[in-house]
Amino acid sequence: MALLSLIIYIPLQIVFLPLSVFGALLQAYKQMVVSKRLGISQTAIEIINGRWTMHIFGMRDDEATARLAAALPNNSLLGMWLALFPLWVKYKIAGKPSIYPQLPELGSENLVNFVISRTLYFDCIIERAIPEVEQFVFMGAGYDTRAYGKLMQNNVKFFELDQTNVQQQKIAALESAGIPCEHLSFVSIDFSSEKLFDKLIEAGFDPDKKTLFLWEGVTLYLSQADVRRTMQAIRANAAKGSVLLADIYADRFLQMVRKGAGKKTMDYTNEGVDFSLDFTTEYEKTLSNFISSESMTVGETFFMGRNSEKGPFMAVVEMTCE
Ligand SMILES: C[S@@+](CC[C@H](N)C(=O)[O-])C[C@H]1O[C@@H](n2cnc3c(N)ncnc32)[C@H](O)[C@@H]1O
Repeated sequence: MALLSLIIYIPLQIVFLPLSVFGALLQAYKQMVVSKRLGISQTAIEIINGRWTMHIFGMRDDEATARLAAALPNNSLLGMWLALFPLWVKYKIAGKPSIYPQLPELGSENLVNFVISRTLYFDCIIERAIPEVEQFVFMGAGYDTRAYGKLMQNNVKFFELDQTNVQQQKIAALESAGIPCEHLSFVSIDFSSEKLFDKLIEAGFDPDKKTLFLWEGVTLYLSQADVRRTMQAIRANAAKGSVLLADIYADRFLQMVRKGAGKKTMDYTNEGVDFSLDFTTEYEKTLSNFISSESMTVGETFFMGRNSEKGPFMAVVEMTCE
């Protein structure tokens, strides 16, 4: 079937190419121009579309993402379908995705598939950690839909934190997609200027209950001082045994983002990048020194792209407050 799928895919992709290009442009327009007009994050769209792609290619069941992605005004699923249709036909014939999307082996992750790998690594730690906690805080939740899917079966209280504009737009889109969100507490915050725990406690957070804090795709947009300040707040205020999950980026990743098209797109919606660590050599030590300098303990860690001679380009890491 793999060979048949390739034989059908190649001519289909050639004939479909103008539509695929149009689809990609339509999606880029919505993601960039409409996000800017609404004053909201365009990077969060990148992530929900990565997860939508995983959903339609059978890699990760996520009905809430499919519904939310369709309801966001700064997204175009028509554009996504046009861009990916030939690959989707290939996937349907072969019975598994190939070319894109892909889950590379641990250590061989790349920039094309990094949202896919990152999402699945976080899922894996969350699945193990969630039975141990009573509260789940999504920090910089964006369009994450984990709190509207199978995690609801766990008896935990959910909090979603994000900047006001992004959050209000998400709530409106959830409503128009018919996704119930009454079980969640939404808390608007700017990590750079507001106190995390004042805001959380105001929203009903209990500092005596073990909590899972998920900080996915956010640290790179903050300064090192703000990242440290937030870690210190969690260390000082969260119950013993609470867990912080985050991704920390390598200097080389941020250098790439700051160049060429990456820089132009980030500048366009004023989403600059800042915090990273040097993972060129002794990356395990670099990461663990950083985490232990904030009196936290390193748990399960995925160094993505670590097979490269330049070192990993990012790490998904579990940190525990002892
Ligand atoms: C790339 S998105 C990731 C969203 C989500 N965690 C996910 O994985 O789908 C980055 C998110 O961080 C939020 N963010 C960035 N800087 C922030 C800040 N200073 N305070 C609060 N949220 C911030 C953005 O609004 C956006 O929703």
